[in-house]
Amino acid sequence: MGKQEGEYPLCRVVCFILISLFSPNSAADGRISLGMSINDSQTIVSPNQRFELGFFTPGNSSLRYLGIWYKNIPAHTVVWVANRDNPLTNSSGLLTFGDKGNIVILNQAGGSILWSTNSSGAATSPVAELLDTGNFVLRDGDQDGSTEKYLWQSFDNIFDTLLPGMKLGWNKRTGLNQHMTSWKSINDPSSGDYTYTVDPLGLPQLVLRRGSTKLFRSGPWYGPGFSGVPAVMTNPVFEPKFVINSDEVYYSYDTMDGITSRFVLSPSGFVQHWSWNDRRSSWNLVFTDPGDRCDNYGLCGSFGLCDNNNSTICSCMRGFEPRSPQDWGVLDWWGGCVRKNKDVCGNGEGFIKLRGVKLPDASEFLVNVSMTIDDCKAECLRNCSCVAYAKLEVGGKGNGCVTWSRELIDTRAVADFGQDIYVRVAASDLAISRAESRRDDDLELPLYDFATIRTATNNFSTANKLGEGGFGPVYKGELQSGQEVAVKRLGENSGQGLREFKNEVIFISRLQHRNLVKLLGCCIQGDERMLIYEYMPNRSLDALIFDEESRHLLNWQKRLDIIIGIARGLLYLHRDSRLRIIHRDLKASNVLLDSDLNPKISDFGMARMFGGDQTEGNTKRIVGTYGYMPPEYAIDGNFSLKSDVFSFGVILLEIVSGKKNRGFFHAEHNLNLLGHAWKLWNEERSLELVDPSLENQFPESEVLRCIHVGLLCVQQKPEERPTMPTVVLMLDSESTMLPEPGRPGFYAERCLSETESSSLGKLMSNEMTVTLLEGR
Ligand SMILES: *[C@@H]1O[C@H](CO)[C@@H](O)[C@H](O)[C@H]1NC(C)=O
Ligand SMILES: *[C@@H]1O[C@H](CO)[C@@H](O)[C@H](O)[C@H]1NC(C)=O
Ligand SMILES: *[C@@H]1O[C@H](CO)[C@@H](O)[C@H](O)[C@H]1NC(C)=O
Ligand SMILES: *[C@@H]1O[C@H](CO)[C@@H](O)[C@H](O)[C@H]1NC(C)=O
Ligand SMILES: *[C@@H]1O[C@H](CO)[C@@H](O)[C@H](O)[C@H]1NC(C)=O
Ligand SMILES: *[C@@H]1O[C@H](CO)[C@@H](O)[C@H](O)[C@H]1NC(C)=O
Ligand SMILES: *[C@@H]1O[C@H](CO)[C@@H](O)[C@H](O)[C@H]1NC(C)=O
Ligand SMILES: *[C@@H]1O[C@H](CO)[C@@H](O)[C@H](O)[C@H]1NC(C)=O
Ligand SMILES: *[C@@H]1O[C@H](CO)[C@@H](O)[C@H](O)[C@H]1NC(C)=O
Ligand SMILES: *[C@@H]1O[C@H](CO)[C@@H](O)[C@H](O)[C@H]1NC(C)=O
Ligand SMILES: *[C@@H]1O[C@H](CO)[C@@H](O)[C@H](O)[C@H]1NC(C)=O
Repeated sequence: MGKQEGEYPLCRVVCFILISLFSPNSAADGRISLGMSINDSQTIVSPNQRFELGFFTPGNSSLRYLGIWYKNIPAHTVVWVANRDNPLTNSSGLLTFGDKGNIVILNQAGGSILWSTNSSGAATSPVAELLDTGNFVLRDGDQDGSTEKYLWQSFDNIFDTLLPGMKLGWNKRTGLNQHMTSWKSINDPSSGDYTYTVDPLGLPQLVLRRGSTKLFRSGPWYGPGFSGVPAVMTNPVFEPKFVINSDEVYYSYDTMDGITSRFVLSPSGFVQHWSWNDRRSSWNLVFTDPGDRCDNYGLCGSFGLCDNNNSTICSCMRGFEPRSPQDWGVLDWWGGCVRKNKDVCGNGEGFIKLRGVKLPDASEFLVNVSMTIDDCKAECLRNCSCVAYAKLEVGGKGNGCVTWSRELIDTRAVADFGQDIYVRVAASDLAISRAESRRDDDLELPLYDFATIRTATNNFSTANKLGEGGFGPVYKGELQSGQEVAVKRLGENSGQGLREFKNEVIFISRLQHRNLVKLLGCCIQGDERMLIYEYMPNRSLDALIFDEESRHLLNWQKRLDIIIGIARGLLYLHRDSRLRIIHRDLKASNVLLDSDLNPKISDFGMARMFGGDQTEGNTKRIVGTYGYMPPEYAIDGNFSLKSDVFSFGVILLEIVSGKKNRGFFHAEHNLNLLGHAWKLWNEERSLELVDPSLENQFPESEVLRCIHVGLLCVQQKPEERPTMPTVVLMLDSESTMLPEPGRPGFYAERCLSETESSSLGKLMSNEMTVTLLEGR
């Protein structure tokens, strides 16, 4: 097999001539039957001259072996060897039939058997045949040759070469385990140190070993190919497959007619894919594995991630850190990484998505080919020893799930060809990664377990109840870790399907701004839907500004900070979040305050997302809160970014005055707060609007400017109201000239009460969010 790669044209020709010369007695029909034999100078050629079987001497060796090589390719390339561990020392070898019709290799001189097939089924008229596939088969000549009932076949005895149609793997029924074994050297076909196998108890993947040491693995088969070997993907001339069923687990491939292709495990331990190039008359190396540093098995240790494009090569997965920073410092990564925060069992943990990786190896894992990715996630979340999950489509039915426990080894970046894996991390790491991430769908929202939430809220006890929103009660809870949360338990008749709920929750979870309340996760159980938010110790703005006692705690500077904070949060929703969002229910009770009294907008339950340039909409289902709804929305269901601007203006005037717009009463007139503010503005008495509890401790120009902006926001016509970017600018810069405010919408509250049906009056008597199914 010396001229394996065909790089010596002259020698090739000589070889060809030699082979032709020494094959005067080849069995041209490709078969021998009982009574026939093949001696050292004879060969068997397959029907279409594709393969030839006979005795040969590899490289510079002096020993003789029986093997199969390509007949129609000038490079003498051996693909199979029979007596690899038991060679002949001279040309006295003979291939013939022995006991029970088995094929044997004899030493003509001594008569000793050097090699024999192991067929147990005795054939009375055995036929040995070399097929055009390169398969040398033994069958019962009394049977029709087309039935392919072989008593023995060389394809069941894979050595270093995998030909199209060979099955590398396990047959559980027959117990046959086929793996590739390297030659010791190019001169010696006896078994070398390297093997390439399908591990019957492992993931559906191929593993290269030297002795028992793993050197490389293909990565799990996930459907179109192996997770980490982009070269072995289906293409027009090459069709790989991985079969997993109750009988068999094997890898195999086919090629288009006319393509000559072979996989070889080389004596030096490389898996090479060669294809014959007729034009250049030489073998073309399609790929070699292992191919780069990251192919080295487990280079970055457990929970490490190998990236060949990165100068640092190894890094830890998010939520993990080097086990030994010293070792990593000197580029010894084998120790791998450990979890930073070990709190990953029933405490708001979730999954971080790693994109484009070769799925990791594992000592412990579970594969379920009929599980959907959603079930897979739920299964993994439920079991605290599950560290990751991924889609693994082996059955070709679109489903398939693999979950890992303990550790993740040998994960590498393979860019566009890789898979996505979801790695379990603690709630805190999720939050960090969410803040760091610029890619939206990288994140998975934590799903809290119902029992966890029930315990955290003392069984949803009345004592824990913080309040009742339009969509259900809100409870205070404390997780096992001590973290305080607010749990919003949505009413059963919130009218939302599970899918919509999830979509909405995921969409809300993408909103990250210091002036928006942070959603930590959600909980779904049966009909129960809950949202888990960060807990705000100072509750909502309305509880502070409308309370006789508490309002004294808010000086002017604090109030201005709150106004600007709300404006920034709203600006983020409208413009900066990339998802254009209209809140639709902005009001004082939806503005929560953290321990430093920073405002955070909450309750995006009715928020609407807009695509592209869409800025307006219309709805038949009007939801909102009287006193904060602009006229075009309350009357016609028209909503736009300007609806939120109106609500913001109302809140602003409420903060300045310390009075509620709804239920505002003044002895002199029937106007509501908006009308009152506008009246004072026109009479240049605006400072009279300011909350007396401020005791005149404020810069007048700042306060006047604020009221001015508030009045601009609540103007009747949406097109006359400023946009949020303009509002923020107006509030921030003293110098900007402001237009005169026009008449506010709903400036006399009773106008509405009189024109609407009386039943609304009842609804309007409290602060709750209302839903009107009428409208347009
Ligand atoms: C092989 O058999 C053929 C025909 O019987 C004979 O001519 C030839 O000498 C034999 N060669 C060897 C090496 O035995
Ligand atoms: C055969 O070739 C190998 C290298 O391929 C060399 O190491 C060895 O010495 C050679 N043996 C003989 C007998 O020439
Ligand atoms: C061939 O080698 C065998 C031992 O391997 C020996 O018994 C036999 O005599 C040899 N025959 C010839 C012709 O040298
Ligand atoms: C046949 O079986 C024997 C004993 O089990 C074994 O040593 C030998 O390698 C087998 N031969 C083949 C060709 O499988
Ligand atoms: C390389 O890896 C480091 C550590 O994980 C990471 O911070 C950096 O962004 C990576 N660089 C590139 C070019 O991917
Ligand atoms: C695989 O998942 C399906 C669907 O969830 C389930 O019915 C089946 O029992 C699972 N099989 C195993 C072996 O766990
Ligand atoms: C959790 O997963 C481990 C590892 O796969 C398994 O041994 C254990 O039985 C599972 N526990 C439950 C409750 O399913
Ligand atoms: C590495 O860089 C090359 C060239 O830019 C790119 O084609 C390849 O996809 C990158 N691989 C990974 C794993 O990012
Ligand atoms: C919680 O409520 C359920 C149902 O009302 C009840 O069975 C259970 O005992 C309660 N658990 C606690 C700790 O109060
Ligand atoms: C806000 O919360 C902090 C921390 O709980 C508390 O110390 C402070 O008194 C609260 N402020 C108001 C105005 O309630
Ligand atoms: C609502 O929108 C429609 C169509 O754009 C418009 O005709 C109507 O006047 C609007 N209603 C109000 C109150 O602005």
